[in-house]
Amino acid sequence: MPNKKKILLSGVKPTGRPHIGNYFGAMKQFVDLQHDYDCYFFIADLHALTSVQNREEMSQAIYDVALDYLAIGLDPAKVTIFKQSDVPAHSELAWIFECITTMPYLMRAHAFKDAEAKNKEISVGTFNYPMLMAADILLYDTDVVPVGQDQKQHIEVARDTAEKFNRTFGQTFRLPEPLILKEVAIVPGIDGQKMSKSYKNTIPLFSTDEEIDKLVMSIVTDSSGETPKNVYEIHKLFRSETELKKLYEEKKGKYKDLKQALADDIKTFIKPLRSRRDSLAQAKSAVLKILQSGAEKANSIASKKLSEAKKRVGVIF
Ligand code: ADP
Ligand code: TRP
Repeated sequence: MPNKKKILLSGVKPTGRPHIGNYFGAMKQFVDLQHDYDCYFFIADLHALTSVQNREEMSQAIYDVALDYLAIGLDPAKVTIFKQSDVPAHSELAWIFECITTMPYLMRAHAFKDAEAKNKEISVGTFNYPMLMAADILLYDTDVVPVGQDQKQHIEVARDTAEKFNRTFGQTFRLPEPLILKEVAIVPGIDGQKMSKSYKNTIPLFSTDEEIDKLVMSIVTDSSGETPKNVYEIHKLFRSETELKKLYEEKKGKYKDLKQALADDIKTFIKPLRSRRDSLAQAKSAVLKILQSGAEKANSIASKKLSEAKKRVGVIF
């Protein structure tokens, strides 16, 4: 018997254009690992509902993530791609988890503490966000979850929740591990802070050449040093450090040239991805079919696990 592959799962929220931080921090690993694991990649539309509250915007953004997944090179013949809201077990299991989790525990979550510190009024969905994420992960007996550093705490919540459930009702859920690549854990944005849609400092993964030129030229640099740190940190994603050291030595102090070199490297990298995405965008019914068959597969697995949990809890007998 061949060894059964380990299970890998991850999700991306449909909340706007993915950027190179999302790509190098999380999505690239999806592509690199798709042959080594039994993979599930989903579109976290229920999670996005905490911030996207417009019908057209939501539908478009969901379709966009499906295109993004395919354009970066996920092979739908090998991996399961689906939409979270097509698999009702996620929401149902999240409720069960909410009943065994305390408020003070969830109040320790970074996302909640940040919102509180900013005096923001947050929705119940935002507060419960980690419970739905725990359900996403635990329903599939997931071994590893590739994400960026900022999601680490959410994976810990999933582990704690699995342990609590197993302790209370008997062994049911496998404990997942995060998979975080140290070198790209936090990709900086054009202002030097963590690249994030919410900071408006991103370089979108499918940018046009004009956008790339403009964004790279606006990377914040200090005038004191000879190496523009923010340019170099992004450049590292596209070229080996040996090559970069040479280039940055040759062009010491010539910030404009270095930025141009970075823009050219990004353009070369993005071009094939962008053209693949453009042709996929013409094949809507094929893309929707992929999501439909992904949902069938995901439902068959998730509903079995949910039934097992409901038996443990005592509501199915
Ligand atoms: P954003 O902060 O732009 O809204 P998301 O929260 O949608 O990004 O993140 C999607 C995935 O990309 C997550 O796994 C997250 O950890 C990863 N990620 C986001 N920004 C970065 C970054 N700057 N560096 C590394 N990984 C990132
Ligand atoms: N919270 C993740 C993000 O903001 C998205 C997500 C939802 C996710 N459920 C997940 C990631 C399960 C990994 C596993 O990026």
